[in-house]
Amino acid sequence: MTPKVRIYPDRQALVAAALTAIVDRIRMAIDQRQSCTIALSGGSTPQPLYAALANTDLPWDRIRIFWGDERYVAPTAPDSNYGMTKRVWLDLVPIPAANIHPMPTDCERPELAASAYEAEILADFGLEAGSIPVFDIVLLGMGDDGHTASLFPHTAALSVADRLVTAGEKDGQPRLTFTFPLLNRSRSTIFLVAGASKQTALAEIFALQGDIAAYPSRGIQPEGELLWLLDAAAGAGMTVTSEIG
Ligand code: 6PG
Repeated sequence: MTPKVRIYPDRQALVAAALTAIVDRIRMAIDQRQSCTIALSGGSTPQPLYAALANTDLPWDRIRIFWGDERYVAPTAPDSNYGMTKRVWLDLVPIPAANIHPMPTDCERPELAASAYEAEILADFGLEAGSIPVFDIVLLGMGDDGHTASLFPHTAALSVADRLVTAGEKDGQPRLTFTFPLLNRSRSTIFLVAGASKQTALAEIFALQGDIAAYPSRGIQPEGELLWLLDAAAGAGMTVTSEIG
């Protein structure tokens, strides 16, 4: 589906718009399918969004939360995506613990953790191995280098097509990440990108020609809707393509 791009004057407006977009899509999923499955991104950009979600009145028992990637560290580590989300959001709302699915980071090897998480996702969706679950919402960030989730440029994780979750790495540090086949099945994929440092990668990602290996976010071509929510600093030079429904 053609990406929809919206640009907001500053991070505060960006977070407010992202909050509305996500809450609307959570409510729509629950209205239509009695539950909502959402895969979260990590990093710093979504943190104020997660803090804002902690102040919303949602049917938390209908929401099942996963992560699209994770650093291979303990949940208590300062760079844990799960740890950050738990601290600013999930500990503050009455969501059943069974609805929260952090990526395991205590297996002997990241590859085993990736397989275990894949099995956990399939079990939660009630699907057999070989199926590809359809998440209602996938929230993504983008690095200055154009990576998304933990799909980094010129890494083996970009080519994994027979698994839903794989082990990746950034500068030798192990990561876990959804693969493109899983990411691209989502009903609604929302990129949240802020800051002037993202301009170059965004230009490469929206260029007519380009290399997914060099700019992995180009590989996010979901069957469902694709929204790019940018602040003016990141989106300088880009054009808004359509209103967000
Ligand atoms: C992670 C993220 C990663 C992140 C980008 C952008 O684990 O770091 O999932 O894909 O979204 O690196 O990070 P910032 O929001 O901090 O710029």
